[in-house]
Amino acid sequence: MEIIIQPDPASASALAARVIVRLLRAKPDAVLGLATGSTPLLLYRELIRLHAAGEADFSRVRTFNLDEYIGLAPEHPQSYHSFMWQNLFGHINIDPRNVRIPDGQAADVPAFCAQYEEQIRAAGGIDIQVLGIGTDGHVGFNEPSSSLASRTRIKTLTVQTRRDNARYFGSEDQVPQHVITMGVGTVMDARQCLLLAFGSAKAPAIAAAVEGPITAMNPASILQMHPTAKVLLDEPAAASLKRADYYRWVYASKPDWQRL
Ligand code: GLP
Repeated sequence: MEIIIQPDPASASALAARVIVRLLRAKPDAVLGLATGSTPLLLYRELIRLHAAGEADFSRVRTFNLDEYIGLAPEHPQSYHSFMWQNLFGHINIDPRNVRIPDGQAADVPAFCAQYEEQIRAAGGIDIQVLGIGTDGHVGFNEPSSSLASRTRIKTLTVQTRRDNARYFGSEDQVPQHVITMGVGTVMDARQCLLLAFGSAKAPAIAAAVEGPITAMNPASILQMHPTAKVLLDEPAAASLKRADYYRWVYASKPDWQRL
């Protein structure tokens, strides 16, 4: 794992955007795995800015989103479809035919999930997977106890996640109980993972994911087994890391050719 601690979310997000733009220059039809939530918002804003500045072309990019709430129509204001169009897709030159987001209204959920996996495979796999982390260590909506080999499927949210996400819905009981999420195994198949985490509420989950044992009780901890995972943090999210000084030292000492 490469742990990169930045002074604030904006600088960490700018680094993540740079990694993505570099990929798009090398591979204009790259496949991006995308996340929702408050964490990637600054990254998406930066990608929009780079697109407006002529530095990022999304015309051939293909995307797969991590997850969606079951029962929400795409046009529901809290659906992840709405989130993505509002916060990224609506502001860049992406071809809507190249966008995939799990269908929260799928009539046959297992069949839909199998098809989603097949679409990822047919696209050649995900080049970069953007991830946030839940306060319970979830990635996508893979809650604690998720199989670390899981594929896209239905999950039931924990009380903690529904509480965390109640801020978007008005109240906890309006947060759907079920979701479709890429599995932990699906995420691990991405050629590169970029996990972003900001704020002190994420510090315990990050410390467990980065420095704790690999365990299904903190699904993000499996990223320790990913060959090219980068964890981009602001100072408050890094506050519980025992080896923070070492990670800072490693990042500051990178050879020029390895700099982001
Ligand atoms: C949500 C999403 C995750 C996200 C996480 C953290 O429920 N399903 O993909 O990473 O929880 O959300 P936030 O970035 O708003 O803290």
